[in-house]
Amino acid sequence: MRIGIIGAGHIGSTLARYFVSAGHDVAIANSRGPETLRELESSLGTKARAETPARAARFGELAVLSVPFGRYREAPAEELAGKPVVDATNYYPERDGRYPDLDSDSTTSSELVQRHLRDSRVVKAFNTIPWDTLQDTPRTGGEALLYGVPVAGDDDGAKRCVFDLIEEMGFQPVDSGGLAQGGRKQQPGSPVYGTELPANELLPRLS
Ligand SMILES: NC(=O)c1ccc[n+]([C@@H]2O[C@H](COP(=O)([O-])OP(=O)(O)OC[C@H]3O[C@@H](n4cnc5c(N)ncnc54)[C@H](OP(=O)(O)O)[C@@H]3O)[C@@H](O)[C@H]2O)c1
Repeated sequence: MRIGIIGAGHIGSTLARYFVSAGHDVAIANSRGPETLRELESSLGTKARAETPARAARFGELAVLSVPFGRYREAPAEELAGKPVVDATNYYPERDGRYPDLDSDSTTSSELVQRHLRDSRVVKAFNTIPWDTLQDTPRTGGEALLYGVPVAGDDDGAKRCVFDLIEEMGFQPVDSGGLAQGGRKQQPGSPVYGTELPANELLPRLS
């Protein structure tokens, strides 16, 4: 599959490594331009290339949004239309600025992302697991199945794609529900946030 990754920091570059290892083709972007990603590009090998956000978005059959949440409106909505988009972002007011609707819990960060990417199929995943846990986990073998990854979304097909990706990586996808209620259960401060738990221990925390 062709995967576009918008955001090339801790989470974006770690996911890129997994996807390339699993045989996918990756285009990855940051805000400063592909020329600032040459080192990462060469470390990822021939199945990955650095691009602008718009080109990475157009390239992907599926995309990952791994930017600071406060930058989500810069994601190229037109190029992402019709595609599953994995939202790995989290809202941190001290970094992202204040969003009163999030502070009052009248909506969730992924619903705002979905509102911006109105023609995409947003799936919230990879936002609860710390990037270094993701990076350090063995990629094959039974041990890797130690960790569960919560997944929220309203589109079954898009969710299935993300489940498959997580399984290929050697983790266990755990369905947390729809984007609003499931996504809320995955936000900072929730019982699963920042945890490193197997699926059977995540499930009760998501109910
Ligand atoms: N760190 C974790 O353990 C972790 C775990 C799960 C989820 N998350 C969430 O995932 C997101 C990314 O976290 P991170 O730790 O990977 O952050 P990070 O290391 O600071 O990386 C952020 C990346 O986003 C890029 N970026 C910023 N604005 C952009 C834009 N408009 N278009 C394209 N790229 C843009 C940055 O590029 P430039 O440097 O060129 O600006 C950088 O490559 C955050 O929302 C975070 O809360 C983090």
